Amino acid sequence: MHTLTTPDEMRAWSGRQRDAGLTIGFVPTMGALHTGHLALAADAARRSDRVVVSIFVNPLQFNESADFDSYPRPIDADVESCRQAGVAAVYAPTAAAMYPPGFQTRVVPGLLADVMEGAMRPGHFEGVVTVVAKLFGAVRPDVAIFGQKDFQQLAIIRQMAADLDLGIDIVGHPIVRDADGLAQSSRNLRLNETQRARAIVVPHSLDAATTAANRGAAPSEIVAAARSVVEAEPLARHEYTTIFDAQTLQEITDDDEHAVGPLRIATAVWFGDVRLIDNCELRTHGV
Ligand code: PAF
Repeated sequence: MHTLTTPDEMRAWSGRQRDAGLTIGFVPTMGALHTGHLALAADAARRSDRVVVSIFVNPLQFNESADFDSYPRPIDADVESCRQAGVAAVYAPTAAAMYPPGFQTRVVPGLLADVMEGAMRPGHFEGVVTVVAKLFGAVRPDVAIFGQKDFQQLAIIRQMAADLDLGIDIVGHPIVRDADGLAQSSRNLRLNETQRARAIVVPHSLDAATTAANRGAAPSEIVAAARSVVEAEPLARHEYTTIFDAQTLQEITDDDEHAVGPLRIATAVWFGDVRLIDNCELRTHGV
């Protein structure tokens, strides 16, 4: 397995694969790899000849420096996980290589970034699409895999790839969950034991929403059903729960009588200073 640390090295490696007639599948990550990331790498391996995993904690996409500073960075364990997973190359650039003095260009996402995570975390998606555009420029993949846990991120990157004619196939991979239903996330590592145990209210709230949707409840009732599960947990602080159109990401309210979907519901919940997000499809009859 190759480990590459600068955009030039990465591009040169990628060029050699292409010259040899091989395709490249790419999994961008911020490290602290878990089985969810490895499922993305396995998906990339099914769709391409050589898998590249990037590991870079991107300062541009963090709203708070404390969150950036405390983000887990177990780089040696991550590299070893990639080796065992059969990854061909790890791209782990330094911040100085990604954002050298004089760096000034940003990619600005459109309307899809104005709601949900974008509304709560100003500038977050600008940081995400800027770094992903740079990673794409260095890795030059044929296909890139993103987890559906960050459903809005996936939609925004798919839109960017289309809008900027990048010619990269953007694939969404289903959410990978722990046995108790909690969506896998590097942030779960920052929960203490009690918080981790109670964090199952997050997927349980989505289950409550699904049950309400299946009995034909209105959007406001579905959201209320989900919220009440989170709000019954004293360690949890509810941030938002929204039903949205999976294509446009626009919120669906009780007035949207003709919404035909596909629809999803997304939520963000805090445990202490750890923010968890989750979402699922809503197969509604009543919305
Ligand atoms: O989903 C993530 O881990 C990050 O947002 C990404 C796509 C690697 C960009 O830094």
